[in-house]
Amino acid sequence: MAPRIPAPARTARARAQAAFAADVRCGLLREGPKELPSKYLYDAMGSALFEAISLLPEYGLTRADERLLRRHAGEIAALAASPARARIGRVVELGSGTGKKARWLLEELCRRHSTSYFPIDVSRAALAACRAELGDIPALRITGCLGEYLDGLREAAAGRGSGERMLVLFLGSTIGNFDRAGGTRFLGDVRRIFEPGDGLLLGTDLEKPEAQLLRGYDDPLGITAAFNRNLLARINRELGANFDLRNYEHVARYNQAERRIEMYLRAEREQTVRIPKAGFSVTLRAGETIWTESSHKYAPEEPRRMAEQCGFRQAAQWIDAEWSFAETLLLAS
Ligand code: AVI
Repeated sequence: MAPRIPAPARTARARAQAAFAADVRCGLLREGPKELPSKYLYDAMGSALFEAISLLPEYGLTRADERLLRRHAGEIAALAASPARARIGRVVELGSGTGKKARWLLEELCRRHSTSYFPIDVSRAALAACRAELGDIPALRITGCLGEYLDGLREAAAGRGSGERMLVLFLGSTIGNFDRAGGTRFLGDVRRIFEPGDGLLLGTDLEKPEAQLLRGYDDPLGITAAFNRNLLARINRELGANFDLRNYEHVARYNQAERRIEMYLRAEREQTVRIPKAGFSVTLRAGETIWTESSHKYAPEEPRRMAEQCGFRQAAQWIDAEWSFAETLLLAS
């Protein structure tokens, strides 16, 4: 028997599908080069492929992030509570995935006092994985928020006790998937939800040699290519489209002027694609590309500069010695 889905969940799912269809339509029918928003790379299959990417020897970003969090959890917890040894009662993670990177910091905080953890993610599976991953930490209360980052953050910030500080984790250089101006705007949006003293721990991938970056985004096993192509597979699955997946080549290129990796899918042969649940058809010419993701790389001082424009001050920064990646602790002024 099919599981009964409560009406509100059904409505949320229908809304999400309508938004997906509208964004696909807009990105593929726009004038100029075709593009699709990178947030749609992360359905259940895309999230699993991203987990596999993070194991690739060519992609050191996730391991660098984890090393810094493991090594510096004590300092991060102490600095985020400074100068008055405030109580960090709430930790919010934007795009938590399985939540495993937050463990060291949460254990550190829970040794001092009980803590509430609010993982925010667009994937229901990720939130369930979070509960399984971190459910063993004593004195930790987990409240998953399904949805967009800022909506979840507003929810988590509401109802906190007076004097209770919040620490937000925005890890893994996810900010790099915004364009630079959009990243700064996003920090401003976060700051407007904060109280003075609240902290933001921001992970950013730093600039490195082009050849190293290209290996990281076009690996020999083809996992990143599968991650990229899965976006078309998702359009086939969810919107009934007929993209011929073998016709689309994964392309990663470094844009020197913008200091970012760009991922594309390039049609090898002309194809007319029908996307019935988005109500349109589109022809891709041979050689035509769809831009699917940008991954900006930063100079070490850039996170501070961006954050200072938005009402933060830098409390500390840690840089990994093996893979050029920075963890920057920013406190709301
Ligand atoms: C999630 N995000 C920071 C990753 C990145 O490096 O931009 C996504 C990714 N795309 C290809 N490989 C990994």
